[in-house]
Amino acid sequence: MNNKKITHFGYEAITKEEKSKKVNAVFDSVAINYDLMNNLMSLGLHHVWKKILIETTTLKPKSKILDIAAGTADISIEFLKKNKEFKIFHTDINLSMLKEGKKKLINQGKIISSILCDAEALPFENNYFDCVTIGFGLRNMTNKERALKEIYRVLSPGGKVIILEFSKIWQPLSKAYDIFSFKIVPKLGKLFAKDEESYKYLVESIRMHPDQNKLIELLNEQGFEKTSFMNLSAGIVAIHKGYKF
Ligand SMILES: C[S@@+](CC[C@H](N)C(=O)[O-])C[C@H]1O[C@@H](n2cnc3c(N)ncnc32)[C@H](O)[C@@H]1O
Repeated sequence: MNNKKITHFGYEAITKEEKSKKVNAVFDSVAINYDLMNNLMSLGLHHVWKKILIETTTLKPKSKILDIAAGTADISIEFLKKNKEFKIFHTDINLSMLKEGKKKLINQGKIISSILCDAEALPFENNYFDCVTIGFGLRNMTNKERALKEIYRVLSPGGKVIILEFSKIWQPLSKAYDIFSFKIVPKLGKLFAKDEESYKYLVESIRMHPDQNKLIELLNEQGFEKTSFMNLSAGIVAIHKGYKF
């Protein structure tokens, strides 16, 4: 098979066309239990990581923010809690996830645009947003370079991208983390979401995702400047930032 057409779905090598279909199927399957499973798997820590993202992002009132792969809308909601004048676009490629996010936004009285779209082909004009965020989304994308290029295109000069994503844990903790990931997470998926396979994909996809330094390289290659990262929880996740000047 042509190598350019091959990518990974967890540890499995598949074609790029197959990957987007399989990722879509994963999120169709997990959407309803997504928040519950996030709370269980991270022991609630994902809320802390998202809050740190918001608190370490300085933006002017009325800033235009694009939340990509926004799913159940936690990051959009946290931004609105910080400043209700932010103009936020809640977007995702998966309708089930977008709908769950929309429900949550409405339940909390937050009326913002929710848009179904692919991060690899964003339906927005050049130089529009002051900030683009992606929480736990980049890992699932088929062509990460293309998504980063699109983000760069829609950012206005001076704008920034903030990526919250699983990353490479501090080595001494990696054995314990592997046991938790491979032995416990899929079982939690089976028990609470009736879906072991999707959670097996989750833990494998984390191992296949570029580590902290590799992601900095990808950002630099797309033209981002002043790129940096901050590890959280010993590198279980990291927040990467990059600017367009
Ligand atoms: C793990 S969820 C993250 C949801 C939310 N941002 C959070 O932090 O809880 C990953 C999301 O990425 C979305 N996604 C995957 N590929 C995408 C793409 N190419 N464009 C936009 N969203 C994508 C999935 O549909 C899913 O909702």
